[in-house]
Amino acid sequence: MIRVRGLSKQFGARVVVDNLSFEVNKGEILGFLGPNGAGKTTTMRMIVGFLTPTSGEIFIDNFSVERESLRTRSLIGYLPENPPLYNELTVVEYLSFALRLSGVTKKKFKDRLDTVYQTCGIGDVSGRLIGNLSKGYRQRVGLAQAIIHNPKILILDEPTVGLDPKQIHEIRGVIRGLAGEHTIILSSHILPEVSKTCDRVIIINEGKIVASDTCDALSNRYSGGNRFEITVARPGSDALERLKAISGVLNVVNIGSGRGFLVEGRRGLEIREEVANLVVRENWGLLGLKAMEFSLEDVYLQLTMEE
Ligand SMILES: Nc1ncnc2c1ncn2[C@@H]1O[C@H](COP(=O)(O)OP(=O)(O)OP(=O)(O)O)[C@@H](O)[C@H]1O
Ligand SMILES: [Mg+2]
Repeated sequence: MIRVRGLSKQFGARVVVDNLSFEVNKGEILGFLGPNGAGKTTTMRMIVGFLTPTSGEIFIDNFSVERESLRTRSLIGYLPENPPLYNELTVVEYLSFALRLSGVTKKKFKDRLDTVYQTCGIGDVSGRLIGNLSKGYRQRVGLAQAIIHNPKILILDEPTVGLDPKQIHEIRGVIRGLAGEHTIILSSHILPEVSKTCDRVIIINEGKIVASDTCDALSNRYSGGNRFEITVARPGSDALERLKAISGVLNVVNIGSGRGFLVEGRRGLEIREEVANLVVRENWGLLGLKAMEFSLEDVYLQLTMEE
């Protein structure tokens, strides 16, 4: 649905997006994750046709964003980092204006308005001036504007910024609900945001893709396998050797004054039960068994904080 090939953007001598290539399939939600200044917003602006790439190509539904810009833009709903709202219009005036621009027939107006009021929870403020709305409500109106013409593709730049926790939860639900019918790219530097909403994530750092996979696969890939820590009250003198002898165990290291062990097992193999059985059988006194999983956060920090 979205195909990006060798995309780069330079401002003066500075390369801020550096040779990105990726695809987003129909119905998928892709998350752009990366620190401030990584190039997320710049990439999104090029996808929606707001900025011209220095090099590379973007195809939407097989149409080139550069050569068939009107066509591709009509397929996209865009929530910019700072939604350009008209403070002197009321919510309903603004959304009706957006609908007229998108060429939706008059007959469908009411239907579309009712849908976004419901989806974004703004029915109660439809008659109010946008300039008088709170930040969270302005963000909701921005999102409503992005989805008002029911576009196939949604590009959402930090969609939940400024929202309260309840609303974040609701908007995440809304975004998940839009997937399937819609193809979505959203950006965030909030990890739970991405892991809870997206099917796949691309981690961008200094304009380059440093990782691209499903959230689970990323955590697994960088976790270095299957590791956990056990603590026992009275380890036998041969405890280390006995643990190492369990089939599927790759390595055991003694930690914490001899009562703790870091056990590494072959990836994808469940060895905790065997280990616990041994400890109980030998009466070493099991005090704890804790998985040492790497979260997406560990992966993210590892990939973006090197050097
Ligand atoms: N029009 C511009 N002219 C010059 N530099 C720019 C321009 N737009 C963006 N940049 C630079 O490009 C880099 C990437 O910016 P971008 O806004 O894409 O980052 P981001 O990943 O969206 O960051 P954030 O998480 O803070 O939103 C930054 O260093 C920024 O200063
Ligand atoms: Mg940004």
